[in-house]
Amino acid sequence: MYTPLALDAFIIEGPCRLSGIAGISGAKNAALPALAASLLTSDQVSLGNIPHVADIKTMKQLITGMGVSIQEAAPGQASLSAHHITSTEAGYDTVRTMRASILVLGPLLSRFGEAWVSLPGGCAIGVRPVDLHIKAFEAMGARIAVEKGYIHAHVSRIGPQAGRLQGTTITFPNPTVTGTENVMLAATLARGKTRIENAAREPEVADLAVLLRSMGAAILGEGTSTIEIEGVDTLRGTGASRHDVIADRIEAGTYLAAAAMTGGDVLAARARGNDLEPFLAVLRKAGAEVDVSDAGVRVRGPKTLEACNIETAPHPGFPTDLQAQFMALATQARGTSHITETIFENRYLHAIELARLGADISIEGPRATVRGPRKLQGAPVTASDLRASAALVLAGLAAEGETRVRRIYHLDRGYSEMEKKLQALGAKVRRVPG
Ligand code: EPU
Repeated sequence: MYTPLALDAFIIEGPCRLSGIAGISGAKNAALPALAASLLTSDQVSLGNIPHVADIKTMKQLITGMGVSIQEAAPGQASLSAHHITSTEAGYDTVRTMRASILVLGPLLSRFGEAWVSLPGGCAIGVRPVDLHIKAFEAMGARIAVEKGYIHAHVSRIGPQAGRLQGTTITFPNPTVTGTENVMLAATLARGKTRIENAAREPEVADLAVLLRSMGAAILGEGTSTIEIEGVDTLRGTGASRHDVIADRIEAGTYLAAAAMTGGDVLAARARGNDLEPFLAVLRKAGAEVDVSDAGVRVRGPKTLEACNIETAPHPGFPTDLQAQFMALATQARGTSHITETIFENRYLHAIELARLGADISIEGPRATVRGPRKLQGAPVTASDLRASAALVLAGLAAEGETRVRRIYHLDRGYSEMEKKLQALGAKVRRVPG
């Protein structure tokens, strides 16, 4: 199997019209907490539909380093056993490359009473602190200190705590996806009831609840703003059944945006229409034809898209993880589109690269204005983060001539074999070293 090199690039010959079927992989952001959930039990946890992306590889390396054994009977499947845990530490080198490593904190703390997790540090899309995770665990009785760049969390083994977290009410000031997941993971083994107010409602959070319930956890309310978890003494594995993670709505949205902006016709196979509704509503408004069925979501692009305004928001709002792709699309729409990014500061690094292809974009604080349609022209561009890379690829598909998208390793973190999926849709794209 080809192992992607750190500095691989994509060469795209545009313009092209995408048509056909894109097989959508399992959701990276559902698979990551699912892998972390294996730490909660000494029994076997069987997962399926795990995407073949770099972040998943990183999470697997992190938990195997702690002693988790992983068997992979078939591609996308993993049977995990956390029977012999030898370390409760997530080191700097891993956390630095993948912030979602913080998801091991909750399971380790609740099952073993202690964890060391490196503080993530900076990140291309903004400051992204983990204070809400830390405050929640403190409210559940953990003692937390920052020592030598690490979060050291433990639960007192003496007195009323006796090594166990205590259920309580956690009210998040704003919904946090991994924060909600981390508390859910921890609360499954805490003493008593935990109530999460202003919880994240993302489909990936709900999918984690389904997995945890299949392991014996008592959880209610996932998908709403209030989640209640009644702690149990131990969790079991998934038994004879397997938990298949949900389809990746962001990957699906990326291919559907590509269809809409190239006047194409793409079925994102297995994509779940409900999960994508906030994005599909915008595509419809822009003039695309959208069909949702059991087979997936099909989008047909019009001759010319119409400009639209979007504002990112927690689910069920417009997802920040599709903001960059929407910006690429807006360059091909007639009129002025306004984008407001409310989740992350500094998530417009793609704008300046899109401008290198000829896009007309101005940024003022959290607001971006895109004037279209513009005839884009191929040029070398550099990816800065996962979703920004996807936006550059989309723009490259619409641009005339050759676009070289450098630093594709960002893309490989969350998109499985993107060049092959695009080739199957008729795009002229290839991966080259450096
Ligand atoms: N926040 C804090 N303190 C915290 C946690 C969050 O201030 O302790 C703030 C963040 O800075 C942000 C807001 O709360 O302004 C929401 O962030 P959230 O915690 O929801 O983000 P996350 O859990 O770190 C997940 C996804 C991201 C996605 C966001 C928002 C995973 C592994 N990551 O991140 O996915 O953008 O939710 O939907 O689930 C991606 O896949 O490209 C990606 C970045």
